[in-house]
Parts: sequence; structure tokens; C-alpha cells
Amino acid sequence: TYEKAWLAAALVLIVGFIVTITYGSVGLGISMIDDSEEVMSPGDISEDDRFGEPRVEQVGENEYEAYVVARTFIFQPDPIEVPANSEVTFYVTSPDVIHGFSVVGTNTNTMVIPGEVSTMTVEFDEAREYGVICHEYCGSQHHTMEGKLNVV
Ligand code: CUA
Repeated sequence: TYEKAWLAAALVLIVGFIVTITYGSVGLGISMIDDSEEVMSPGDISEDDRFGEPRVEQVGENEYEAYVVARTFIFQPDPIEVPANSEVTFYVTSPDVIHGFSVVGTNTNTMVIPGEVSTMTVEFDEAREYGVICHEYCGSQHHTMEGKLNVV
């Protein structure tokens, strides 16, 4: 009868919705996995030749630029060596995941985001050694991620 046909049509529609929703969420699951792979894949810092060789470079009489790479689970260069009575601009990047760059005992402290460059300028007066630590959780060995900054 007309009524039964209508009911059958409604049933087909409902099943259709369920299939669509299920398929849709599976599809979403797959695309979420793709997204996290994108985040995990190296931000291509190899194309940025400033970071090809992490280093400290003199750019003025007492001015220096430090190109620092934070990666699981080290800082490069290590140690970072800068002269006393200098002004140092740090450029810090990460090729893998989010790290932190914190010079212990100073307010030099930044988040390091893959593919982005964090910049800060710091003045160093006297010769001394600082610890450098990662203060953003970055994986199983996060707590071991540390380096040295020597003012010489
Ligand atoms: Cu790198 Cu925590």
C-alpha cells in the first residue's frame, strides 16, 4: 500500500543517514591522522640557510646573532658561546615539534614552533655559564633536553 511504501522509503533514508554519518566519521578519523602527520613532519628549515649550520655570528662591534636549532632532544649549537659585554640576537627554530628555549636564571625564554623563528635580543655583561632548558613538553626525553650557554 501507499503507507508501507512511505515507511520503507523513510527506513531507507534513516539507514542512509547512519551510513553517511559512520562513513563521515571514519573519513574524519583518517584526515585527523593526516593532520598530525603534517604537524610531526619536519618544518623544512633546511631551506632556510640561516639554520643550515647552527652558530653564533658577529655582526657588529659588540653585536652577535645566534642561530639556534631546538630539536628532539637537543639544542644546537651546544654550548652556545657568546662574548661578555655583547648584545646577542637569538633566532631559534625547530624542525620537528614545539620546544622551549629558556636560559636559566634570566628572563630569556621563548616557545619554539616548528617552521617559525622566535627572535629575542639579550645583553650579556660578565663571563659566566648558563643552563639552557626546554620548557615545553616535547616527548619522552623532554626532561633531558638541555644545553649550555657560555658567556666567555
Ligand atoms: Cu624539547 Cu621539551
